[in-house]
Amino acid sequence: MTKIDDQLNNGSITSGENVSYWIDSTSIIAFNKPDQNINTEVLIIGGGIAGLTTAYKLVKAGKKVVLVEDGFIGSGETGRTTAHLTCALDDRYYYIESTFGKDASKLAAQSHSAAIDEIENTIQTLNIDCSFKRVNGYLFLHPSDKIENLEKEFQATQTAGIKTNFLKVTPTITGGETMPSIVFNNQAQFHVLHYLKGLADAITALGGIIYTEARAENITKEGAEVNGFTFSAEHIVVATNTPVNDTFTMHTKQAAYRTYVVAGKIPKGMLPYSLWWDTGDLESKWVAQPYHYVRLENFDDQYDLLISGGEDHKTGQADEERISALERYDRLESWTRSYFPMLEDITYRWSGQVMEPVDGLGFMGKNPGDDNIYIITGDSGNGMTHATIGAMIISDLILGNKNNWEELYSPSRITLKSTGDFIKEAGNMASQYLDWIKGSDLENTADLAAGEGGVLSSGLKKIAVYRDYDNTLKAFSAVCPHLGCIVQWNDDEKSFDCPCHGSRFSTDGTVTNGPAQTDLSHIHIK
Ligand SMILES: Cc1cc2nc3c(=O)[nH]c(=O)nc-3n(C[C@H](O)[C@H](O)[C@H](O)COP(=O)(O)OP(=O)(O)OC[C@H]3O[C@@H](n4cnc5c(N)ncnc54)[C@H](O)[C@@H]3O)c2cc1C
Ligand code: FES
Repeated sequence: MTKIDDQLNNGSITSGENVSYWIDSTSIIAFNKPDQNINTEVLIIGGGIAGLTTAYKLVKAGKKVVLVEDGFIGSGETGRTTAHLTCALDDRYYYIESTFGKDASKLAAQSHSAAIDEIENTIQTLNIDCSFKRVNGYLFLHPSDKIENLEKEFQATQTAGIKTNFLKVTPTITGGETMPSIVFNNQAQFHVLHYLKGLADAITALGGIIYTEARAENITKEGAEVNGFTFSAEHIVVATNTPVNDTFTMHTKQAAYRTYVVAGKIPKGMLPYSLWWDTGDLESKWVAQPYHYVRLENFDDQYDLLISGGEDHKTGQADEERISALERYDRLESWTRSYFPMLEDITYRWSGQVMEPVDGLGFMGKNPGDDNIYIITGDSGNGMTHATIGAMIISDLILGNKNNWEELYSPSRITLKSTGDFIKEAGNMASQYLDWIKGSDLENTADLAAGEGGVLSSGLKKIAVYRDYDNTLKAFSAVCPHLGCIVQWNDDEKSFDCPCHGSRFSTDGTVTNGPAQTDLSHIHIK
């Protein structure tokens, strides 16, 4: 087994078993592990697009910055994205306008467009080779949706000041000649891990320090413990996608969803580089209705890679629709072929997790109740731009500059108009505690083949079990250390996922996604 196989196997490169195209086409971005106590001005926790963009902006402004990442750079959701850079919000401008008002909707549009400009400027300044391109984006009608909603969204984008046009067709896709769409001009796309590599190189060249395989725990306003060393700082930025310093607040304002991706080659020149999204399935049972999202990426001289995503469900709750991950990939592939029949064999399949805020906007700024701890979360399917906006807001807060978007994205905000969705998501979370009295999905461990896991009941206890590829049986308490829900086995990405607030644990019980802050506890079984 090579080192990379070994690392992939224990889940340290990526937060799941499947390897995305971005990870497959990038060498591991690794730095030293911590070996001493550290005192710095800014400690940033998390080496995805949010953490690295914040680190780059602060180090460029002359701050002493240390960034710690418990895997490798990009090994969280940033390595599993599809990297559309867009101001077309997946929660829709008409929703933002009715929830926050017209001025706020304008600010939201302005901030996402500014984030794309920020990424483009950084790429130009640092000369990063990451195939950044400006492209058009097409939002077209899902069969379950109504044309009036598309017209309403067009009107709302115009009110928000975005350059859009309403088209009677959706260019280039099969059946598009009878399918109306909104075209968003001047959107963009890039190879996200090549971008992160450029940022990481610039951060260290400017004197910043990055540690990988460096896990932060016990985060306080003084700093954090990192691999047992004390890292003290004046400012702490928690850029871990879901905050790992949250027990009571942020998990009530957002919900974790799993989303799926397939990718395959198409001959170059058959389709123009563009972004395509449908408006989402209005008949879905989930509060955040799943939609499809598609784009191209340069593959080689002969081919482009068509990357298509969707078929989302709430984390740990695929069973509620009785549709397995395998079936979701199949559905996604057949949906993609119906609109893009030139797609050749599927060469990549992976899934990832997105945090859906209950009111449609990300949470970026001071952590509620803290003055020097900041968070970036709730970034939904617009996480590339939300994370960049978060980095812009937080670097301004730390540098003492005014930022016009601070209030809009404040993690402390309470949005009364979103209460309906809030109650539905809260009800869904509460109902997950019924798993305590449900039967187990396994009769006994003899049912488990190598590479499989599940949850067993033993008296009143719930036990998460996994049989390793070398046939070793591992067992843990299935009780999530965050707030006590029962974790579920994710057979596709080989992890234990919590259906309440999206914490995830690898097959050795290690926490890979918050809000849980500690691992599943080991159990000895015969
Ligand atoms: C399939 C998919 C498609 C998507 N498509 C798009 C898209 O087209 N456009 C778009 O804008 N957004 C998209 N998103 C969303 C976007 O990818 C994410 O919102 C974004 O990458 C999140 O970046 P981040 O830096 O906040 O989090 P992450 O990339 O997850 O980074 C957080 C990092 O923190 C580390 N970490 C966690 N805990 C600790 C700890 N205790 N100590 C140290 N390190 C820790 C993790 O290892 C991780 O690397 C998509 C997401 C998915 C899953
Ligand atoms: S993530 Fe909250 S109980 Fe598991």
